[in-house]
Amino acid sequence: MNAKKELRSHAWFARQDKNGFYYRSWLKNRGFPQDQFDGRPVIGICNTWSELTPCNTHFKTIADHVRWGVLEAGGFPLEFPVLSLGETMLRPTAMLYRNLVSMDVEESIRANPLDGVVLLMGCDKTTPALLMGAASVDVPSIGISAGPMLRGVYQGKYIGSGTNTISMSEQLRAGEITLAQYHEAEGCMHRSHGTCMTMGTASTMACLVEALGMSLPHNAAIPAVDARRNLLARESGRRIVDMVKQDVVMSKIVTRHALENAVRANAGIGGSTNAVIHLIALARRMGLELSLDDWDRLGREVPCLLNMMPSGQFLMEDFFEAGGLPAVLRELGENHLLHKNALTVNGRTIWENNHAAPCWNRQVIYSFGSPFKPDGGIIVLKGNLAPDGAVLKPSAASPSLMKHTGRAVVFESIEDLRARINEDALDIDETCVMVLKNCGPKGYPGMAEVGNLPLPPKLLKRGITDMVRISDARMSGTAYGTVVLHCAPEAAVGGPLALVHNGDLIELDVKERHLSLLVSAEELEHRRAAFKPAVPSASRGYVKLYVDHVLQANEGADMDFLVGGSGSGVPRDNF
Ligand code: FES
Repeated sequence: MNAKKELRSHAWFARQDKNGFYYRSWLKNRGFPQDQFDGRPVIGICNTWSELTPCNTHFKTIADHVRWGVLEAGGFPLEFPVLSLGETMLRPTAMLYRNLVSMDVEESIRANPLDGVVLLMGCDKTTPALLMGAASVDVPSIGISAGPMLRGVYQGKYIGSGTNTISMSEQLRAGEITLAQYHEAEGCMHRSHGTCMTMGTASTMACLVEALGMSLPHNAAIPAVDARRNLLARESGRRIVDMVKQDVVMSKIVTRHALENAVRANAGIGGSTNAVIHLIALARRMGLELSLDDWDRLGREVPCLLNMMPSGQFLMEDFFEAGGLPAVLRELGENHLLHKNALTVNGRTIWENNHAAPCWNRQVIYSFGSPFKPDGGIIVLKGNLAPDGAVLKPSAASPSLMKHTGRAVVFESIEDLRARINEDALDIDETCVMVLKNCGPKGYPGMAEVGNLPLPPKLLKRGITDMVRISDARMSGTAYGTVVLHCAPEAAVGGPLALVHNGDLIELDVKERHLSLLVSAEELEHRRAAFKPAVPSASRGYVKLYVDHVLQANEGADMDFLVGGSGSGVPRDNF
């Protein structure tokens, strides 16, 4: 690969006129001497550090390691912040702001004298937001994930982010643990820098960054506080300089083949349902097609290989010590489920990187021939309740509920659910199907992670641990259960979910990929005539922009005007 075009930064720093004076002089006040402007690649370090994003708080240190790597390779590093998204803090949901951050990233790269960029991303939405933004500019880009936290341990047992937050909250509601124990567990669960250490959305997306070829090997699982993450940051800093010189733009890495590798990797790891939305959105930014049907088809042949929460028992630190994602990619490749020639950021193919990857612990990473669970892929359901699709994660669901018909118990909103779920008078038993409406991209707005509806306490006390639940919401990657998510179109815009009444029968048939409301078409038409849209009104600002333009879940929940990219062309002069 040979460099074929002039660096973008030349349009700023190679000028010997008034504008060049502005561009250079204002950086010299930071100690950059004249020789920094000699035509070397300028590398942006896109940082999502924020005290409001606890998962990303070590990124100042990681950014320093990247900076040293860039300098060692003869580049000119310039760190810049973008809006950060802390999953646990942001209300109503961090997903509302994913597209906003992608715009921030895209415009920050395009408007500045950057030739390449290192993306520091960790907490759930920061990863897709940075990938999407960089994709729309298409400069050489390399990802570094925050890395997972150390294992959570409480009373001698592993506790995992989110997964045990949910289970212990259910235990508290069922009266099985005390409030003091609950509080004590809070301090035991998250005891280091880094992202959730279960195979939740952050870990899933970090794995997909690696499977896409957008990071160096082992990026996904090295713990945040392990020195090897610092080494990876330094090596990434060195490598991005060469990527710029070789013009390895993002579109050479994120190809259709790379996306297919990522979809299959998601199945192999038992990854989060959120990955479906994020990867579709990324593909569309790259001008590539990736559909829900692709997700179902590509994942069908892939079993879940990882015994990790929420599907299993181990945590990301165990995954790393067992061999990490390279061991999973090797299993896929040896079973003809990897496009082996897909290019990665280190200049080697995905197969060259991973063909000899060892596995050190088969209790954590199972072999393809003897998998942890038979179904790893995301299942896509269709039918008159979700004409444009809905998803279910089989590795986190109950096999006994995969074919089930039950009476609908309907909640019109999350507030309605919270107001009634604890009532003894609620007419519900374990054979019912819980339905939650108006939590989709427009209806919430932001498509919150409320799809794994809490079970009624009166059923919990009887030892019921799972029921079929259906909504247009998302679910945390750390959650579990027989949960049908992302029903499209969503209820708020008139999707069939809006027409479900209490007492209707709903049929779920996972094997047949079918989700049906057993109500006559005539009756549904009658109900549709009375339907009133439930999109919340937003009068101004970003939320109005979002509500007016966000697409449905099966289209990646991007905004319609952000699909595609504007490229890396240099904007007009500012002076
Ligand atoms: Fe940040 Fe889970 S809350 S990764």
